[in-house]
Amino acid sequence: MKDNSKEILDGRKSIEDIDNENSLRPQLLSEYIGQDKIKENLNIFITASKQRSEPLEHVLFYGPPGLGKTTLSYIVANEMKVSIRCTSGPLIERAGDLAAILTNVEPGSVLFIDEIHRLPRIVEEVLYSAMEDYKLDIIIGKGPSAKTIRINLPKFTLIGATTRAGQLTSALRDRFGMTFRMDFYPPKDLAQIIKRSARILKADIKEDAILEIARRSRGTPRVANRLLKRVRDFGQVQNVKIITKVLVDSSLASLDIDDKGLDSLDRRVMTVIIKHYSGGPVGIESIAVAVGEEADTIEDVCEPFLIQLGFIIRTPQGRKATDEGYKHLNIERKGDSQGRLI
Ligand code: ADE
Repeated sequence: MKDNSKEILDGRKSIEDIDNENSLRPQLLSEYIGQDKIKENLNIFITASKQRSEPLEHVLFYGPPGLGKTTLSYIVANEMKVSIRCTSGPLIERAGDLAAILTNVEPGSVLFIDEIHRLPRIVEEVLYSAMEDYKLDIIIGKGPSAKTIRINLPKFTLIGATTRAGQLTSALRDRFGMTFRMDFYPPKDLAQIIKRSARILKADIKEDAILEIARRSRGTPRVANRLLKRVRDFGQVQNVKIITKVLVDSSLASLDIDDKGLDSLDRRVMTVIIKHYSGGPVGIESIAVAVGEEADTIEDVCEPFLIQLGFIIRTPQGRKATDEGYKHLNIERKGDSQGRLI
């Protein structure tokens, strides 16, 4: 059977999301729903640096995909009233690529680097002096005639986003003036986001339908917006004018999304841990091979949510399924929670 829930629940961006997010993306901190602590702090730091007429210090956002790292970065630039340039770690292959970007940033503006953990090491090292002193040390030529030249850069704010703060070197992490960890959103915040998106999309939706989508969106606004659009598609084709809970239930059933918002990949991951490895511990690579997915996808997309639900835990020996995880899949655990036969 074709696994059609996979892209829907993958928090990572697709082409559609890029369009979608441009129209649904809030422009101001006051329009941004949830992540209250981050908003409060950002508001203070933005206000303070505007009062001093200085660029904001470098910002790092980290957390699972789809929680709003890019959206917040655009908001920061907008609130600072500066322009923003966006790129991503894997796109900057050589020190020269970074030099070309940095020598062209507008004074005071924001440079946004998504997936900053994937910057090549040589590029990262050039970034250090750019972040700290707004200077770029570039080596020209090779061998004995090689020369280092130092270029002064305009002051700028680097905003880095990553799903893997642990993969950043401490040298890079230390150069950010502020670091914010994005958390999954509670259903009540997601409900507000869905309501706002439905208004923008001119989709008629009942309150209980909003809550149901919110509850099954894995704490992730990007997933919530995607589900809203898919449910709207089902409704449109079935000639249903108002999105009801009944429509949400049937649409999500067609998409193979279960009561907790797990998709078939999540359930396959859980099944592998439980059935192939007796509940674990098992390493991420072994799980990836067994489900036929990239280990990165499982680590970035499935695992944080399964951990948040308390269905799996990470141990130094590998991932283990919890009693809750067994219960959700309706599988009886043989032995105790340590896997010992009793
Ligand atoms: N769309 C996606 N994320 C959002 C958020 N946190 N607030 C408002 N709209 C959003």
